[in-house]
Amino acid sequence: MRVVVAGRPLVLFRNGDAIHCLADICPHRSAPLSGGRIVDGAIECPYHGWRFAGSGRCVAMPGLIGELPRALVPSYPVVEKDGLIFFALERQTAEPYTTVLSGKDTVSAIVESRVGSTLAEVAENILDATHTHFTHKGILRGLSSRRYRVTVTVTAGDDWVEARYEGEPKQEGLISRLLEGERSISVGRFRQPGIAELEFWGKDRINLATTFHLRQETTDTVHGFGILSGPRQGGLGHLKALLFKPFFRIALEQDKRILQAAEANRRIFPERRQMIGPLDVMRPHIDAILAGRWPEVADRPMEITMEL
Ligand code: FES
Ligand SMILES: [Fe+2]
Repeated sequence: MRVVVAGRPLVLFRNGDAIHCLADICPHRSAPLSGGRIVDGAIECPYHGWRFAGSGRCVAMPGLIGELPRALVPSYPVVEKDGLIFFALERQTAEPYTTVLSGKDTVSAIVESRVGSTLAEVAENILDATHTHFTHKGILRGLSSRRYRVTVTVTAGDDWVEARYEGEPKQEGLISRLLEGERSISVGRFRQPGIAELEFWGKDRINLATTFHLRQETTDTVHGFGILSGPRQGGLGHLKALLFKPFFRIALEQDKRILQAAEANRRIFPERRQMIGPLDVMRPHIDAILAGRWPEVADRPMEITMEL
């Protein structure tokens, strides 16, 4: 399978239980290895049939009699966890984080999405509570335009920022009615390199968590997987998880439509700068983290009250 990261293609392939990640280019005449097939656990180039092991080393050149010359494709660390595949373009320094409920007894569903936008826009969109009244009326929010006073606390570290919402009642949107119990607080969090996650807490546990893993695929597109999970016991249940998928898809389509329309507009009006509104609690910090800068709110947590 070919996977593109920041415009550069990689090829992922399996050899039994092992999974490998190589640059998707043959060192011979540059053919994409992803067009080939797996033979004896090695990936075979579709052009002249050179074969490469998971380490990237060439292990066969069809027709050659005698010693194999050294030929190498760059290889990258790759790990499979909770139904997702993670790879690192640099040295792998830590276990991948999948979701806050990883390892617990949960029911989960995974959805895939691709949006013509940028990572900062998509991550902000997932974590932005203020757009739901408009973009997702009826699905994530009730049909009434009623708002409630909530307190938002924003904290951060060098590579994450989170907003905690307190004071919301149980939500009236369809998804919440179906899936959530009582709500006490909810949390939205961004983490490097492209994780946007939401937690909905009941009395003393997380009732529902969604974690998106996003990647800037090309300059034009963001690709991502969203994991929805909740506790199995007295919680999500398989039927609910099944129901969840179509609703989740509707919400994602709604976001995709507005994000792509906005991105198209930015290309038409490249001189128009965006304004950070007083309720945009996450965006400046997401931008800082993505740029490798220290998010200001890490020094001084911020608290505001808004009508949500
Ligand atoms: S291009 Fe791959 S074997 Fe020739
Ligand atoms: Fe949304």
